[in-house]
Amino acid sequence: MSRRRQIYEGKAKILYEGPEPGTLIQYFKDDATAFNAEKKGTINGKGVINNRISEYVFTRLSHIGIPTHFIRRLNMREQLVRQVEIVPIEVVVRNIAAGSICKRLGLEEGEPLPHTLIEYYYKDDALGDPLIAEEHIAAFNWAGPEEMQDIAAMAIRINDFMSGMFSAIDIRLVDFKLEFGRIFDGDYSRIILADEISPDGCRLWDMKTGEKLDKDRFRRDLGGEEEAYQEVARRLGLLDGENSGPGEVFDLNSHRTKLRGTPVKPKK
Ligand code: TMP
Repeated sequence: MSRRRQIYEGKAKILYEGPEPGTLIQYFKDDATAFNAEKKGTINGKGVINNRISEYVFTRLSHIGIPTHFIRRLNMREQLVRQVEIVPIEVVVRNIAAGSICKRLGLEEGEPLPHTLIEYYYKDDALGDPLIAEEHIAAFNWAGPEEMQDIAAMAIRINDFMSGMFSAIDIRLVDFKLEFGRIFDGDYSRIILADEISPDGCRLWDMKTGEKLDKDRFRRDLGGEEEAYQEVARRLGLLDGENSGPGEVFDLNSHRTKLRGTPVKPKK
């Protein structure tokens, strides 16, 4: 492939200029970071699995009417996405207490929350992504009131859908992080789901054993992170030899793709 212009490099992904105006190529790395990149490492094959899991989840979400930036997967580590103006807010949805909310409020990990919580964090690495209130979002105009309504409504629908999707494969969706972006059409803009949804940004616990199947294995030095990510992909029917799930199937060992169902062909 010809040399492409790199637009942005994040902790787990790189964005390149896409083949058409308004598109980008999102490349998934194996790099893993935690605690605002104080801890760094790699999880072998993570980029390949997250690319596939995120494709699957975004495709399923688009089927229930959630607008997303995902266009199509191009290869093992890359997907074509719509270019958006990222809203500088990380939206965290929590069903069960875990992670930072336990520290902040003195909760026991695993405690069910009275009801689902939506939290907002300001996306700023230098500040360590601080927790913010809607007041701050309005005051500093990071997103408008109508945009926030759309974001909150989508976050709730995504949570309902994903909780069901994961519970069907014996996984509890504890919490997760979403990012949204704006696309422009003349004088109008609208909000669509962007970034990725993968075990990097979700807490996923096995329903029977409570085993963690997400990036907490890396954050907390539990080991077995590769196997955990693969297990999520396997249960979603995305690994070779499984018979559910649309699109292409990966043979992780051969690092070749085998086609099944409706293949997604990159446009010439
Ligand atoms: P937290 O408990 O550390 O606040 O994380 C809540 C959820 O958000 C968890 O599923 C991990 C995800 N998350 C990210 O994807 N990126 C981040 O930078 C942070 C802090 C959390």
